[in-house]
Amino acid sequence: MSSDLTNDHHAGYPNIRMRRNRRTDWSRRLVREHNVRADDLILPLFIQPGSNSPSLPTPIPSMPGAFRYTISDLCDKAREASDLGIPAIALFPATPQELKTDDCREAFNPQNLVCQAVRAIKKLNLDLGIICDVALDPYSSHGQDGLVENGQILNDQTLTALCEQAVVQAEAGCDIIAPSDMMDGRVGVIRQALDSKGFADVQIMAYAAKYASAFYGPFRDAVGSSGNLSAGDKKTYQMDPANTNEALREVALDIQEGADMVMVKPGMPYLDILQRVKSEFQMPTFAYQVSGEYAMIKFAAQNGAIDEHNCMLESLLAFKRAGADGILTYFALDAAKALS
Ligand code: PBG
Repeated sequence: MSSDLTNDHHAGYPNIRMRRNRRTDWSRRLVREHNVRADDLILPLFIQPGSNSPSLPTPIPSMPGAFRYTISDLCDKAREASDLGIPAIALFPATPQELKTDDCREAFNPQNLVCQAVRAIKKLNLDLGIICDVALDPYSSHGQDGLVENGQILNDQTLTALCEQAVVQAEAGCDIIAPSDMMDGRVGVIRQALDSKGFADVQIMAYAAKYASAFYGPFRDAVGSSGNLSAGDKKTYQMDPANTNEALREVALDIQEGADMVMVKPGMPYLDILQRVKSEFQMPTFAYQVSGEYAMIKFAAQNGAIDEHNCMLESLLAFKRAGADGILTYFALDAAKALS
């Protein structure tokens, strides 16, 4: 009896062999379900004030390989991104401390760093989308995304400021307005403000499900807002990392209010949210692999724990598998080079 079983085994069991398709590289490529392409990548870039080249970009210690660029260097980076086939960049200003105020007025200055950068890049006539964040934290003395009174983040007063910020950025030539502030109702009022000023074609990418995450630390170093964030955190407006259903409500509202694309942020620890958002709404859906995620891979690789190149590509593929149409990532240039 037992010898029959042994014979059966040799005669062909298991007859379903998952390893057959994995045996050769060509076969693995043939059955591959997802791919990362340069078209999927959005490069975030930090801007600093300063005169023309040759000026050295300022390294960001908590984000190895990332820099703050003056506008002329930024133009070179924009061109490099475009040459590699990256469709869009996202701009973030490091506003000089002396321009940060409680009323955040620098956000509406048509000559602020972001607006100057947008104009300069647009002059290059690249086939490249420019995304500008809408939130007050780069301009506030307190580091919060909204206006503050008696320690409270004011929702409706902030909306007025965000509209003004969005319009100033659109006037400079921004293609996609990306509200990252998480105030209630902001997508709707920004849409109206843009339309009423003749910017009906400017797209809105809503940071729709944005969590109050500890993974934003290095970004706050990069734009110089961490020291300002005296109230400590953003938990009264960014989402609780414990919640899933709430993310679907947030996304549904942003879509109703006119968002053209939605985003989930952070990325890797929130792939479950990304998958649910994509399958529920079928919208153009983006993931933000945030500064802390980037730093984890960089520092682990620097210390010999993991292979940077392979972990970078695997992490980007994971976003595609979970349903992302695109990924904001500080690896965008390296990834696009690796994929070309
Ligand atoms: C500003 C903003 C933040 C990020 C993008 N836009 C920081 C924050 O909300 O505190 C984080 C990006 C990153 O960590 O890479 N509202």
